[in-house]
Amino acid sequence: MAIFIDSSDPKEIKDLFGWGVLSGVTTNPLIIAKEAPDADLGERIKEIIAVSWGDVSVELTTETEKEMLEEAAVYHAWDPARICIKVPMSEHGLRVVHQLTKKGVKTNVTCLMAMNQAYLAALAGATYVSIFSGRVRDMGYDVKPVIAATREVLDREGLASKIIVGSMRHIMDVNEALECGAHVPTITPPILRKMVWNPRTETTIEEFNSAWRNRGKKK
Ligand code: E4P
Repeated sequence: MAIFIDSSDPKEIKDLFGWGVLSGVTTNPLIIAKEAPDADLGERIKEIIAVSWGDVSVELTTETEKEMLEEAAVYHAWDPARICIKVPMSEHGLRVVHQLTKKGVKTNVTCLMAMNQAYLAALAGATYVSIFSGRVRDMGYDVKPVIAATREVLDREGLASKIIVGSMRHIMDVNEALECGAHVPTITPPILRKMVWNPRTETTIEEFNSAWRNRGKKK
């Protein structure tokens, strides 16, 4: 089991890795465009690498097999041991995953909404298959059977791919992903912070600390 952080903000990533609960980072072009529209991608990813450990997923933005392989080679060179090439699901994407797998490059096949897509990605050799919880639900479908069926087929056929579940909107999405067999929830910083908090925990801590501060005083 592992948790990844779904962010491209080095400051936030550094802070949250300090909790000791994270083992990797996922980014995507939308996150980076929102968080750092003017950033140099290579510099930003290197900053993330410096403040974290584990796999760092960087997504391809080109659309032909040749361009995607060239783009992947650039990203891979930033840190061959830790960069995981995030490949959007498509026919070109599967070819790219197959080529990268043969070269020993880690891949994360992304934008998956269904088990059949995840199965193809796993057969092509993907290190990770990323199912998008919130976006499946946006279409009006339940994501739980998608995750559970993907886990079942990967286990049954002995496929090595790990299931990442991203596109989390609520803490319950994380809980359900774990219950259904996700290997790795990738969680945004605000949701991760909410997971720490519980009102009863707060009042209990306050009760204990108040008792300690007031020990020995007559009521
Ligand atoms: C996962 O790897 C993706 O980066 C991400 O979770 C997508 O989520 P979104 O639906 O919020 O864009």
